[in-house]
Amino acid sequence: MHGARNILRLLKLGDNKWDVGNYNYVDMVKELSPHDQEIVKALDNIGDGELSAIGIIVQHQNLVKNYPRELAKDFYESVMYGFCMINYEEMRHGFMLKELASQLNTGQSFVDNVDGSLIHELMFETNELYKDPYESLMSYLLGEITNVELYASVESHVEHEGLRNIVRNIKKDEQAHKGAWLSIIKRMVQSSETHREKFIAATKAIHFIHQAEVSKYFKNGALSVQKFFTPSVSKFILDEKHKFLTDIFGESPIDKKQMLTEHLDYFNENFVAHATAV
Ligand SMILES: [Fe+2]
Ligand SMILES: [Fe+2]
Repeated sequence: MHGARNILRLLKLGDNKWDVGNYNYVDMVKELSPHDQEIVKALDNIGDGELSAIGIIVQHQNLVKNYPRELAKDFYESVMYGFCMINYEEMRHGFMLKELASQLNTGQSFVDNVDGSLIHELMFETNELYKDPYESLMSYLLGEITNVELYASVESHVEHEGLRNIVRNIKKDEQAHKGAWLSIIKRMVQSSETHREKFIAATKAIHFIHQAEVSKYFKNGALSVQKFFTPSVSKFILDEKHKFLTDIFGESPIDKKQMLTEHLDYFNENFVAHATAV
């Protein structure tokens, strides 16, 4: 009944692409208040994270390629969705955010003067975060939960209508990605006890890791948007992750208290130390 139908459905969900304004924000950046200018600057590093999505999908593809065929064959939906949709949409997000910051900071276009070595680095010089494709796939889903809430939080702070529309549209894409990864993982979990067990092990190993950490620029990005992760936003993200895990497995493999502890431990180990060091 399913076959490849699900992947075609998921790709169709992204058919109605929104107008990015031809990546030309010269006039818009002139209208931004000092408050909104700070937001655009904070999102510059997030643009790197968006572009690194291509590297993340390359990494997922390699993990699938090198996994035993009997299990790897069921990952085709995630690889196809990654190549056909994630690569395309995250590239747009990255170019938009980098273009806004570049126009604001230098008056020059990022898109027209893009540094090939930066793109190469983001695609291929990535940190190896995952030991198998279950971990990378679960990380994409949980990471998109954070992405949606980041953009929702930014959207609520932005004053300029045009900039707010850009942020809202990126948020909507991330919402679609979140739903797609959920659908793909759920189908795998429900189709086989082996997949289910491996996804549970993967969840326990990586539920606190964001997929953009494959990029060495991730910490800069995370630090620059820290203020958008208010305590209530952070709590919502954790609740949402727990809700999704409950939806996938019937019961979350990790209780909320343990999730919080492991998130905080990871954050303190990787970000507080970094913030003190710089
Ligand atoms: Fe994105
Ligand atoms: Fe996304």
